[in-house]
Amino acid sequence: MTKRTARAVASPNIALIKYWGNRDHNLRWPSNGSISLTLGGLETRTTVTFDETLPSDRLTFDGLTPPNSALLRVSEHLDRIRRIAGIHTPAHVESQNNFPAGVGIASSASAFAALTLAGTAAADLSLNPKELSRLARLGSGSACRSIFGGYVEWHAGETDADSYAEPLAPPEHWDLIDLIAVISREHKGVGSTQGHTLADTSPLQSARVADAPRRLNICRDALLHRDFPTLASIVEQDSNLMHAVMFTSTPALIYWSPATIEVIHAVTTWRAEGLDVCYTIDAGPNVHCLCRKQHADQVEERLGDLPGVIDLLRAHPGGPASVI
Ligand code: DP6
Repeated sequence: MTKRTARAVASPNIALIKYWGNRDHNLRWPSNGSISLTLGGLETRTTVTFDETLPSDRLTFDGLTPPNSALLRVSEHLDRIRRIAGIHTPAHVESQNNFPAGVGIASSASAFAALTLAGTAAADLSLNPKELSRLARLGSGSACRSIFGGYVEWHAGETDADSYAEPLAPPEHWDLIDLIAVISREHKGVGSTQGHTLADTSPLQSARVADAPRRLNICRDALLHRDFPTLASIVEQDSNLMHAVMFTSTPALIYWSPATIEVIHAVTTWRAEGLDVCYTIDAGPNVHCLCRKQHADQVEERLGDLPGVIDLLRAHPGGPASVI
């Protein structure tokens, strides 16, 4: 047989406790553990076809050919899969997102989770979830969390070998909603991979990393007890800590725009008025507004009225990545 193909779907995730900085950049072995929610309703679908007639790997994204740097990163990940499978066959990778890429919605997480599943299935490998998570991590750190559904924790690990994610609670444990206030659709200037290499240039990063076990404990407990006020305060503090590190790196990384701050202030006011909502921001200007389901429609309407919000995406706790 000259062709072997498989297709997989994966959702991105929003980090409630963030991954920022690595102990080893090549291995994506992180400086601290993290916790996330897998975002159902947002999806990457990827088909991998190993084809002996191809001269080299090929990548199409939403039907178009992306920049060569994207193909290189995908090829490196295919090499990891080919090494385990003991094959040398080039592959055609076709990928589609149903959400905008490169605007702080962690598209690399769903991309590398889907690529890991489709690639290993097409190569006839059967890896367990822990092995899949670890492998996805090498492609993009946050992808190791998108292997699982619901609420997920990525253990930093004592070594690279025990740095992988595990489910904390299934999607149905708590029906939180993530309303993503889209501020900009522009591709960000400095991607996460480059950003991670700057983290240690900030004098605040060591304090942020040293305090991570405390934040992880509070966040895990708040999730397990469905305690929204505690979750809200730790999620916002963690996001602010990461951005404080970014602001104080050399060079400084400032992902926020004026509308980002507008949403932060609005969310803080709405919570004081009794709505269960909090904010968290990844490496981009967009603001993820996490809320209890019973308040989601009200928050959505209010976000829609803010002049700086150009679009709104709505996500719910999603399922694990899977071969389709
Ligand atoms: C701010 O996983 O995108 O979203 O490993 O280089 O692909 P790479 O980085 P990536 O970093 C995610 C950073 C973050 C926080 C998080 O998702 O934990």
